[in-house]
Amino acid sequence: MAILPLIIAPDVRLKTKSEPVAVIDDSIRALALDLFDTMYHERGIGLAAVQVGELKRVLVADVNWRDDDDTPGKQYILINPEILEDSGDDHVYKEGCLSFPDQFADVVRPSTVRVKYLNIKGESIEETFEGILATCIQHEIDHLNGIVFVDHISSVKRDMITRKLIKMKKAGMFEPHVHGPNCSHDHDHGHDDHDHEHVHGENCNH
Ligand code: NI
Repeated sequence: MAILPLIIAPDVRLKTKSEPVAVIDDSIRALALDLFDTMYHERGIGLAAVQVGELKRVLVADVNWRDDDDTPGKQYILINPEILEDSGDDHVYKEGCLSFPDQFADVVRPSTVRVKYLNIKGESIEETFEGILATCIQHEIDHLNGIVFVDHISSVKRDMITRKLIKMKKAGMFEPHVHGPNCSHDHDHGHDDHDHEHVHGENCNH
C-alpha cells in the first residue's frame, strides 16, 4: 500500500477517458488500496484512478470517515461504473477536488443515481446512491470520462480557477513528492476554519 502523488489540474490526463478494467487482478486490488491510502492522507472522500495517473475505470469513495475520528466508514470500490438512471432534479453542492487544491464551486447534479458496477470481487452490482455519496460517485465517474467538476460551471469561473492553479504550480506549490506518514507539511490546513456550510465535495482537500 502506498500514498501516491496526485495529478493537479491543468493536466491533459484529467481530460482523458479511462479504459475499462478487463480483469480484476492483484494490480487492480493494489491500486484500490493505494487510492484509499492516498484519499485518506489527502483528506478527500473520493478518488478516481486517473488522479494518480492510472487511466483505468476504478474509483473509490468513503464519505463517512471524518465523522468518527478518522476511522474508515463504508468503503466503496467501483470498477467500470455506469450510471443507469438519475433522478433528473437539480441538486447543488459546493464541490472540491484533490486535483484542484483549495478550489470550490457550486455544481448542479441529480440528487440520486442508480449505478451498475463491478465490486472488487468482480461481482456485478446495481446500487442507488443518494446525498453526498451520489454527488461523490457522479464526480468520480466524470473523472473516468475525462470530465472534471469545473466543466460543470461557467467558463468565467473555470478560467479563474485554472489561472489560479497555473500560478500555484509556477510557484512550486505542487512539486511532486511521495507523501508518507511523516510528511512535514499539513494536509489538513484550514479545516477547522473552513465554512462547513457546504457539503464536503468528494475531493475537498481541506
Ligand atoms: Ni475530483
